[in-house]
Amino acid sequence: MLENKKIILGVCGGIAAYKAVELLRLLTKAGADVHVIMTRAAQEFLTPLTFQTLSSNPVHTDLFNLIAEREIGHISLADMADLFIIAPATANIIGKIAAGIADDMLTTTVMATKAPVLIAPAMNVNMFTNPIYQENESKLQRMGYLFEAPVSGSLACGWEGQGKLAAPEAIFEGAIAALTKKDLTGRTILITAGPTREEIDPVRFISNHSSGKMGYALARAAHLRGARVLLISGPTALAKPDGVRVIKVASALEMQHEVMTRVTECDVVIKAAAVADYRPVERKNTKIKKNDESVTMELVKNPDILADLGKMIQRPFLVGFAAETDALLENALKKLDAKNLDMLVANDVSQADAGFNVDNNRALLLFRDGSSCECDLMSKDQLAGTILDQVVARLEQG
Ligand code: C5P
Repeated sequence: MLENKKIILGVCGGIAAYKAVELLRLLTKAGADVHVIMTRAAQEFLTPLTFQTLSSNPVHTDLFNLIAEREIGHISLADMADLFIIAPATANIIGKIAAGIADDMLTTTVMATKAPVLIAPAMNVNMFTNPIYQENESKLQRMGYLFEAPVSGSLACGWEGQGKLAAPEAIFEGAIAALTKKDLTGRTILITAGPTREEIDPVRFISNHSSGKMGYALARAAHLRGARVLLISGPTALAKPDGVRVIKVASALEMQHEVMTRVTECDVVIKAAAVADYRPVERKNTKIKKNDESVTMELVKNPDILADLGKMIQRPFLVGFAAETDALLENALKKLDAKNLDMLVANDVSQADAGFNVDNNRALLLFRDGSSCECDLMSKDQLAGTILDQVVARLEQG
């Protein structure tokens, strides 16, 4: 996700400095090349060796280190950065940046960078609410500095209130957002995800193996790229993606209702849900008893939501999914045509390493104009990015 991204991580002196270690781990795991700058006070809490070992890069502490000045220097550090993160950021560093003071390695490098700067403050609640601090933060926000707000809780100093460093995962998400091109700003995207449940009686239902991971990955990626995202989700165990409006449904009929009432506000509809094709003709109001040796259940076809969208005269850009176990290309092409889609993402779900219920996927993308693109095994997050790249390219063509 962050492959080839160069990130400078500034660490200030605060008890939350240990959480910067976890943040560094998340960043490097996502492929980022992280260069750490520690203030003098930060070194009272942790040693440079910890960050050096985990980043595999030398840690910068001293503005006037002759070797570093010759080989890297604060200007080349500032220039190479795709993103600058300061976590934890003290009231002191924020005050200095706001006042234009550059008197150590960290403040000098921040001053010299043209990269986006993401600041994650951590301090005592009274320092945080102090109007001087608040004015400094507002000034930096007006200038385009990004902030990951501290959270409320019991603070190391004994006080209760806002001032705790945001969770490393939240700062990590902020970093991804800061590095993501906002090429879906102004667009509304509706995404369906997960399985549907077709009830048989109060305790039983028909469903399938869909985990919802692909649809949720798409929702998260679309939000990061600036879209307004409506996620219509069947039952899943997944957490709500940040900034996404989630509408929970159970059956195909409920999903149909939610999609159809919202479709006119959408520029794009991506149907990643595994909608049950059939439902029981009748849902029993009481539990079916196991008295008989065999039972027969009559099923009726569910509406094909995607095919119905394809029939609309004024319709959004339509992306369908096809999970196939055989004759992938042939079946996928038929679906693209029959459902009148702009794009189809076809997966071969007969292979255990991709598709249903796992984190990876391999797909064939087919387009209305006859072109296609093959995506080898990759994470669902990466595939979501590739699918949205294609959507953006085609929306821009008009
Ligand atoms: O025809 P098939 O069910 O394989 O097509 C899959 C695509 O159609 C998926 O995008 C799925 O979300 C959508 N679909 C639908 N309504 C149905 C069945 C499938 O929207 N009842």
